[in-house]
Amino acid sequence: ASYDMGGHDTYMHKEISEQADAVDRVLRGRIDEKFSTVHLGGLNLDAREARGIRRVKILGCGTSYHAGMIGASLIEGLARIPADSEPASEFRYRNPVVDPDTLYIAVSQSGETYDVLAAVQELKRKGARVLGVVNVVGSAIAREADGGVYVHAGPEVCVVSTKCFTNTVVAFALLALHLGRIRDLSVADGKRIIEGLRKLPGQIQEILAAEEDIKKLAAEYADAKSMMFIGRVRGYPVALEASLKLKEISYIHAEAYPASELKHGPLALIEPAMPTVAIVPNDSLLEKNRAAMEEIKARSGRILAVAHQEQEKADHTILVPKNEDELDPILMGIPLQLLAYHTALALGRDIDKPRNLAKSVTVE
Ligand code: AGP
Repeated sequence: ASYDMGGHDTYMHKEISEQADAVDRVLRGRIDEKFSTVHLGGLNLDAREARGIRRVKILGCGTSYHAGMIGASLIEGLARIPADSEPASEFRYRNPVVDPDTLYIAVSQSGETYDVLAAVQELKRKGARVLGVVNVVGSAIAREADGGVYVHAGPEVCVVSTKCFTNTVVAFALLALHLGRIRDLSVADGKRIIEGLRKLPGQIQEILAAEEDIKKLAAEYADAKSMMFIGRVRGYPVALEASLKLKEISYIHAEAYPASELKHGPLALIEPAMPTVAIVPNDSLLEKNRAAMEEIKARSGRILAVAHQEQEKADHTILVPKNEDELDPILMGIPLQLLAYHTALALGRDIDKPRNLAKSVTVE
């Protein structure tokens, strides 16, 4: 595909920069202020069916799998349905129990990823209900699914996914809100999440406006041999996705761990040549995250925090605007897309076409 780069040097930069508009698009026409809920036209799931769901299993690969992890925590948090995300590529091969009360959700930017499509086909063969959270309209996975939510990120050309990740998570927030309001989410909580969603585009612009600062930080950390990314609960998928982004385009080795797991092994890796990016939202886990940063400092590790307020334990802090706790991961991922981008740029990498990778993997 070739689309106009619109004055940007790379598609990745263009796509990162488009995220406020993209989020606007996924929200447009779907919010019902009167009843503090959301309308999703293509879902194909009535209220009675939605109340009957006992579990949600989300399937995707790579970045879409990470978006699904945040999606699972949104569904579990807002709709109180047990939910998890699993790599679609693995699911198919472990002869999973297919349960009629589980709602399966396939996540894909392209809608053509073979591992995801094959998982959907296997599920359908076994009588499961499968929804799609897909970007490309009319793609194979969208057609195969029983219904779903389009992500409306617009065309994504760069091999590494950025705006589609953000929009996929927002699409999951809409789905979680919809399911929640059919089940036990209160009007007040529905309203709170809607207000949070409405704030996202403006807050994304604020983050993007600080690009020059992030570029300077990238120059500071571009000499790293390896990088550690940590986050807790909601912050963990953000860490995973940020580490994937860095690996894909800069070729710097990176690890992502739940901050709570550090002491169970990976702390042994910490030294000055392995800086840590810590996801540190102002939520109930703030003190725990500070303690993890203290442990890293004690091993002379450098720390770059992504946080809502300056972190004294960190060497540098990237500040992001605060939203509702549930929606914070959406914003915390964005400066780390820019960090990966500017690191790769500083190292002279071919950002839109990283080695060994294809935009969509349509074979096994
Ligand atoms: C993203 O940066 C990747 N290059 C890759 O992990 C991708 O997310 C994965 O292959 C799934 O693609 P899809 O969303 O089109 O199904």
